[in-house]
Amino acid sequence: MPQKIAAGNWKMNAPDSAEVQKLLDAHPAPSVSILLCPPATLLAQLSKYLDGTPIATGGQDCHTAASGAHTGDVSADMLRAAGATHVIVGHSERRADHGETDALIRAKAEAALNAGLTPILCIGETLEERDAGQTLDVVARQLTDGRPETGTIVIAYEPVWAIGTGRTPTTDQIAEVHALLRDHAPDTPLLYGGSVKGANAAEIFAIPNVDGALVGGASLTADAFSPIIAALE
Ligand code: G3P
Repeated sequence: MPQKIAAGNWKMNAPDSAEVQKLLDAHPAPSVSILLCPPATLLAQLSKYLDGTPIATGGQDCHTAASGAHTGDVSADMLRAAGATHVIVGHSERRADHGETDALIRAKAEAALNAGLTPILCIGETLEERDAGQTLDVVARQLTDGRPETGTIVIAYEPVWAIGTGRTPTTDQIAEVHALLRDHAPDTPLLYGGSVKGANAAEIFAIPNVDGALVGGASLTADAFSPIIAALE
């Protein structure tokens, strides 16, 4: 059985540390993996705070190189040194805002693996691609071209049109994509991401081949994230 994971992607937000403590208090011994991915500037501090607790930390992006002349970037080795166990690669916001390609994302995932991190590879179609009936082709291509040949990874299916919009796909739409992903990646944890909240988490986690969630907005407060974790447990 793939590992169950409730992962929070804080994006460019910095919740109060009281929220983290509240989350810890609510889940002192969780039966699923909990991961928080803060902005890079907060990673070392958060990892230290969470050291010895059941909550792990991850980065939101990494460079392909271990070090060097790359102004503004952070390497996977640096994330690891700051206490991370995971790193998100290929998030649709990075694909859109920074023109990241599948080849670059694959190189980032490989750099993460080389640094001892588990990459969380994000894939997902735009609304235009879904409306054009291209969803399965798009996610299959992103997976084939973006996934390293070997190494343990996590895959997050995040339909771009469902991110931060309050819109979620139907259970059949999620099931269809996750069935395809399972065929390609039998033992890999498959997360769903896109407007996951306490109110829809149980329904989403009941879908075959959904092993958890990558949560944006609802990971910023303990009150919003905790019911999602509870639904996965
Ligand atoms: O990576 C998580 C994400 O993109 C989903 O964001 O705010 O729709 O939960 P949100």
